[in-house]
Amino acid sequence: MARILIIDDEPAMVDVISTLCKELDHQVFPFSSPARAIEALPGCMPQVVIADIKMENLGGFDVLKACRDLTPLPAVIMVTGYASVETAVEAMKLGAYDYVTKPFKIDELQLTIQRALDFQCAVRENVYLKQELKERYKFENIVGASAKMQKVYELIAKVADTDSTILIQGESGTGKELVARALHFNSRRQHHPFVAINCSALPENLLESELFGHKKGAFTGAVQDKMGLFEEAHHGTIFLDEINSMAQPLQTKLLRVLQERQIRRVGDTKTIPISVRVLAASNESLHEKISTGGFREDLYYRLAVIPVEMPPLRERLDDVPLLTQYFIQKIAVQNSTAPARIDPDAMAALSTYHWPGNVRELENAVERACALCEESTIRVADLPSQVVQHGPAPCAEITGQLPIGQPLGTFVESIERRFIEETIAFNGGSRDRAAKMLGISMATLYRKLAD
Ligand SMILES: Nc1ncnc2c1ncn2[C@@H]1O[C@H](COP(=O)(O)OP(=O)(O)OP(=O)(O)O)[C@@H](O)[C@H]1O
Ligand SMILES: [Mg+2]
Repeated sequence: MARILIIDDEPAMVDVISTLCKELDHQVFPFSSPARAIEALPGCMPQVVIADIKMENLGGFDVLKACRDLTPLPAVIMVTGYASVETAVEAMKLGAYDYVTKPFKIDELQLTIQRALDFQCAVRENVYLKQELKERYKFENIVGASAKMQKVYELIAKVADTDSTILIQGESGTGKELVARALHFNSRRQHHPFVAINCSALPENLLESELFGHKKGAFTGAVQDKMGLFEEAHHGTIFLDEINSMAQPLQTKLLRVLQERQIRRVGDTKTIPISVRVLAASNESLHEKISTGGFREDLYYRLAVIPVEMPPLRERLDDVPLLTQYFIQKIAVQNSTAPARIDPDAMAALSTYHWPGNVRELENAVERACALCEESTIRVADLPSQVVQHGPAPCAEITGQLPIGQPLGTFVESIERRFIEETIAFNGGSRDRAAKMLGISMATLYRKLAD
């Protein structure tokens, strides 16, 4: 038995709906005055609200808005006298669960109510799980105190709880997906699905049916009707990753979906209204792609309602120590061990490298160092060779008494020889890799060793 609140300014309609709800053994709270119903909402705590969209004075939309302040959120079913998809779409955008058009069949409404209740149950069961996910994706998990990151935080905190479409641009590994998830889990859509799709992972026709679904027989292999990701993300967020690699014809279709807020499965004539927030990411400049004709300009403006630029790590090297400590801590928690220490030289090397793979590369380097290091202290030797090699010129350690009295050439040669030999050893005996690391030809390397 569930609690169902019914609001319609036509008393006859309230009676009909009440009767069919009671038939299903639900407890009914009928109202013909929207204002009274809104007042009663917090006391009734209904699981489902059935509201007429068009009502005198206060409308169904006001009821919908009032429902949004309740916890747990009721599922709102809108009843519309107009078979107008736009009104329904508008209601779904504002968070309605579903809608039925008048005149409706009794079993149609009963089915919709049952689906709404199943959905409510699933939401409740998921609350714990979602809470955990939310923990993982809260803004605090985006690490960085640099001025560039402060700007990013300010912007995303402002726009998280809106329905605006957001385009996140940045090099690979700068945290675009992390930001997308944080945006979703800090929005009013957080209890609904977050669906991510990498647009570069599938060929064009497969991507289209993945996004929009297809009807049985639409193409060879379409053996049954299939729901697309846009439908799966209903009420939630869809994250279109690597949107830059989307083929032109599909860009056109996506543009239409963004404009009309409804989709059509491949091979189908029916349109389905959807309420989905769209987030997109690109790892190359879309402006450049537009100028070379690879990306539709109108689609760009639809997506980049709010553009977020993720700065490359090399432009915020002051964040490296913080990120490094964060990853060391994360690995310690994962392995249930004490966090490793890091030697100042190793930290200096990390903080001067240019990180072409950005935060992901740093995370991998730290993870590797934690696994390799001895006495749980990360030293320069535990870092990947490219990090050490490109860091500041490693200062040759000259221990013991300097051989004062020797000619400069002899001294430099002896140091040089030792340096070359150690570089070869560092590369597991590969002279080829050592020569590359030293920036000299193989011929020079052999000559210097032969001298
Ligand atoms: N500011 C940050 N704080 C903590 N972790 C971060 C940060 N930025 C990125 N990461 C971590 O780095 C890795 C890469 O991040 P993410 O997958 O979000 O990057 P991306 O921009 O989507 O990369 P790509 O373009 O390659 O898909 C993830 O493990 C993520 O958790
Ligand atoms: Mg990514």
